[in-house]
Amino acid sequence: MNIAFVTSELAPWIKVGGLADVSASLGRALAALGHEVQILIPYTGTTGLPDTGLLPRGRSGFLVVPEWGWQETPVTDRLRILWISGPGFAGRSGTPYADASGRPWPDLVERYAEFCKILVMAYAHQGQEAPTRPDILHGHDWPMGLIPFWSQALGTALPTLFTIHNLGYPGLFGRESFDRLGLPPDLWNEDPGILLGLSASSLKTGLRFADQLTTVSPNYAREIGTPEGGDGLANLIRKRQDDLSGILNGIDSDTWNPASDPLLPTHYAAGKPEGKRACRKRLLDHMALEDTTHPIAGFVGRLVNEKGIDLLADAIPELVNRGWRLVLLGKGDRDVEQGLRESCRAYRGKVALQTEQNESMAHLIMAGADLFLMPSRYEPCGLTQMYSQRYGTPPVAHAVGGLVDTILDADRVPGGTGFLFQEPTVQALLDCCRRAERAFQDPTRWNSICERAMNLDFSWHSRAREYEKAYGRAIERRRNRTSCSAHQRAPKSSS
Ligand code: GLC
Repeated sequence: MNIAFVTSELAPWIKVGGLADVSASLGRALAALGHEVQILIPYTGTTGLPDTGLLPRGRSGFLVVPEWGWQETPVTDRLRILWISGPGFAGRSGTPYADASGRPWPDLVERYAEFCKILVMAYAHQGQEAPTRPDILHGHDWPMGLIPFWSQALGTALPTLFTIHNLGYPGLFGRESFDRLGLPPDLWNEDPGILLGLSASSLKTGLRFADQLTTVSPNYAREIGTPEGGDGLANLIRKRQDDLSGILNGIDSDTWNPASDPLLPTHYAAGKPEGKRACRKRLLDHMALEDTTHPIAGFVGRLVNEKGIDLLADAIPELVNRGWRLVLLGKGDRDVEQGLRESCRAYRGKVALQTEQNESMAHLIMAGADLFLMPSRYEPCGLTQMYSQRYGTPPVAHAVGGLVDTILDADRVPGGTGFLFQEPTVQALLDCCRRAERAFQDPTRWNSICERAMNLDFSWHSRAREYEKAYGRAIERRRNRTSCSAHQRAPKSSS
């Protein structure tokens, strides 16, 4: 298959969250299965294209409208990145979604919606300079939510798959944007339209029009069909139940491998865990933390309440009192960052925080911490709990979304590799930490929990096969629909 993979983030060059890692690693996994993969991404940096350190640049061209251009970086024979530049993307500092001081771009949703339209127009008009026409058009999350609609409206007959990474970001836009984008007025309603409350939602547009839908874990696929988990979209999701599959994310097990990770001071593996001690020491030294016989707990993620960071902040005093050390890494809401900075000042030598996106630190925390905290209020899949288990660092996590699909509680099942709590409260988090510490203080038991965690297989291989099947279903569905509408249009024979 020739797969066009359209995304707003791609690790390591444009990264805000897990979407970037999944775009890169799933893209590679599909190419490894023998498919041709083109990853298309609007380039939002302030300099020329990022130096990928790969082969020389490949082709370049325009996307129908002269201000919109693309440049290709071949990664391998089968995997290419197409960096797309257009008005309002290139030259902006900060992230794709917010300026350098964290304020969302005012034209954020409209900009991506326009990108979707221009891209689909390029496929519809297939000029010499258009990117190769794919067999399947796969858009990720709200930024690419309008691709399935435009693909149908502009008559491309291209099958579409839309992946929900996080229902909490609906990609809302108002009537002015709606009109400027040239969307048909009959979509300006809740059903069968694309309104979510008083605004249009690009995520909802994807849910309504894509031939197939996926989300990033089986448990999250169930949760979003319920009124509590559906963020106002549960009815539509239930209606599309037969077209929705929950496919668990995988991880890039080469990049995340403690036996060969160049970002670690020493290497280790299941059955040979000695090197982890040196990583622990390096982490303590690097973060100027005092040593302890109690656990060092790590957190890596966006510092927003969705990740349960408020619960974690409230748990800090008690954990520190018990002798724990905490290392937190991530960027997020300014007031959350500010609150955590105050905790660090109050507990110097015991709590450390780095408010940045820093891959080397993320690797060192996975390896050097004893436990990994993930109190997310909801979590579509989550990747860091998989990284931490691969690094022999059992997670303490809230039992939601993909965390349920990837962590077994060591106090509840014989093969457990972490600890889960049921209610999103500080008390439940603290109780769960207490259970984890009890296991930690029993070296034989602890070593076997860590070893089991390191032996889990979180690789993409079997999961990429699930995507293959979903693409097949999308292609089939589009074929049926296209032949159905051609049939309806055909003049009636006089027999
Ligand atoms: C989003 C979700 C996270 C998921 C990631 C990749 O960031 O919040 O749970 O792992 O996307 O799919």
